[in-house]
Amino acid sequence: MAEYEIVLSEEQIRERVKELGAEISRDYDQKKLVVVGILNGAFIFLSDLVRSITVEHRIDFIRVSSYGSNKDSSGIIRFIKDTELEVEGKDVLLVEDIVDTGNTLSWLRTHFVEKGVNSLRICAFINKKERRAQRVDVDYYGFDVEEGFLVGYGLDYNERYRNLPNLCELKTD
Ligand code: IMP
Ligand code: MG
Repeated sequence: MAEYEIVLSEEQIRERVKELGAEISRDYDQKKLVVVGILNGAFIFLSDLVRSITVEHRIDFIRVSSYGSNKDSSGIIRFIKDTELEVEGKDVLLVEDIVDTGNTLSWLRTHFVEKGVNSLRICAFINKKERRAQRVDVDYYGFDVEEGFLVGYGLDYNERYRNLPNLCELKTD
């Protein structure tokens, strides 16, 4: 059996990311947009997305990890790196690879609200609903996926597979 199977092709991803960039550009015209990528998983999605955003913006990164390895998130967030740009009064767009349980983003939402942002929205490449534990409003997302463990296009399994250009479902471990 193959190690992984393609779920979304490079072409499908490219088209959808362009659409998202166009939608975000319409919504953030004349705003003080700061795009904040959540490391590590969002680095590829963010790099494609910002090249489709045509309105002025700044880019920063934040790094968190949820304790626990393999395929399960523990729900405990470890905060590793904060943003460096001033976000108070700004229109922050958080960019995430995948929303799964929702624990990471609900924690980050509180974190950014406490910083006094003017607005906060979430853009996730994948919205995976199977294991949602916390309600999260995902304002923009590339694709809905019902289930399965996904790798590629920035998503990893124990830090592997991030470089795959397609989005794949891991079939073995
Ligand atoms: P959360 O469960 O919504 O807090 O998601 C936390 C993190 O788990 C995401 O940012 C991903 O890094 C990781 N994750 C969740 N589901 C998957 C998956 O299917 N593949 C790879 N990483 C995942
Ligand atoms: Mg990850």
